Amino acid sequence: MHHFAYRDGSLHAESVDLSRIAAEVGTPVYVYSSATIERHYTLFAQAVKAIAPEGKAHVFYAMKANGNLGVLKTLGALGAGVDTVSEGEVRKALAAGIPPEKIVFSGVGKSEQELRFAVEAGIYQVNIETEGELDLLSKVAASLGKRQEAVFRVNPDIGAGGHAKITTGSSENKFGVSFEEVGRLYARAANLPGVRIMGLAVHIGSQIRETASFEAAYAKMAALVGDLRGEGHRVDRLDLGGGLGIPYDVPQHFDHGPELIEAYAAMVGRVTKGLDVELGFEPGRLIVGNAGILLTRVLHLNPRPTKQFLVVDAAMNDLVRPAMYEAYHEIWPVTEPGADARAVAYDVVGPICESGDTFTTGRELPALAPDDLIAFMTAGAYGASMSSTYNQRLLVPEVLVKGDQYAVTRPRQSYEELIGMDRLPGWLA
Ligand code: LLP
Repeated sequence: MHHFAYRDGSLHAESVDLSRIAAEVGTPVYVYSSATIERHYTLFAQAVKAIAPEGKAHVFYAMKANGNLGVLKTLGALGAGVDTVSEGEVRKALAAGIPPEKIVFSGVGKSEQELRFAVEAGIYQVNIETEGELDLLSKVAASLGKRQEAVFRVNPDIGAGGHAKITTGSSENKFGVSFEEVGRLYARAANLPGVRIMGLAVHIGSQIRETASFEAAYAKMAALVGDLRGEGHRVDRLDLGGGLGIPYDVPQHFDHGPELIEAYAAMVGRVTKGLDVELGFEPGRLIVGNAGILLTRVLHLNPRPTKQFLVVDAAMNDLVRPAMYEAYHEIWPVTEPGADARAVAYDVVGPICESGDTFTTGRELPALAPDDLIAFMTAGAYGASMSSTYNQRLLVPEVLVKGDQYAVTRPRQSYEELIGMDRLPGWLA
């Protein structure tokens, strides 16, 4: 469920009227609900902790979904660890007060500098994806007089996900070392001075709304744990990645329960039973996805013989998911439509100079007019975190709501800041 609902005819985030945020902060703007973030983290953490022995299940929130400091702090206060994929993310997790021993560093291409930073910071675990990275990590850690704990990310050759661009577990995808290689890499690692291999990691994709593909991949991992132990290797940890999906295409006022989370946790319990490993989880979207909306204002109507375009002040640089993955986001008008509201089929588009800047086509919405506010729902994950300044538009601001309070947790960029990012070469200055 989430905490966006109509009160007195106006859409609220918890107890804050979105029209007030629009008036005071301007649009477009992302608005997040603390209560929803907390609820989803708690639901997930409780479910996976219930199926593992005490202290043996660890949740590392995948901050690529939403790296706002306010969001990270909210989760940190609940005891969350963080899954990071760049030095910037490691730094941001630390800046949010996440203890280094709760930080995992994943990713296909970590540089020497990034590994050095992470090892020096004393993070919990590096998820190694290539043989070259194994060597580099050992070299970097040894040069710092350290031995970094790490796991091998294995490609299970089982891909799943809501879109081809977010499937990662197929052998056609760039992620992880192959099953056949892990034993040899383990043996090699045993002779390297700067790493201690603690186990395995897997992540098969994102926006997965069933448990069967996870189960197939995890069963393969469980068998691999047995094989590796049989060869005398130490496998104490199994990081099961993220990927659990959320409902995007649901009617207004929906309240999806925790069924999928519970089914997932039960499945994990079944598949890992008796393995005696520490389990890691890296959920991103599930925690923040429907905890956020993108609030935007209608600029213009553009009626055409065959279409009705609704031009809003948000664009693909603010929310790229529809353009990039054909993603569907519910659209709710901020002013609650009356029961007799006339429905119009709109193509909702942003101001950017390419046709791809289209949020949806032919969507039935209550008739709207310039200056009306609408909300793209379920935009808390991979919304602001994928935003850019394309078309020299200001980086979109973010607001965090808690009860009847709200705070701007990322102010709208200023034009001075935008232009100030560039430097003229001496010969043009
Ligand atoms: N762990 C690893 C290693 C990952 O690559 C990802 C996501 C996650 C965890 C978190 O997955 P989640 O629980 O959020 O599904 N931008 C796309 C999604 C890309 C996901 C990339 N990896 C979108 O907007 O749908």
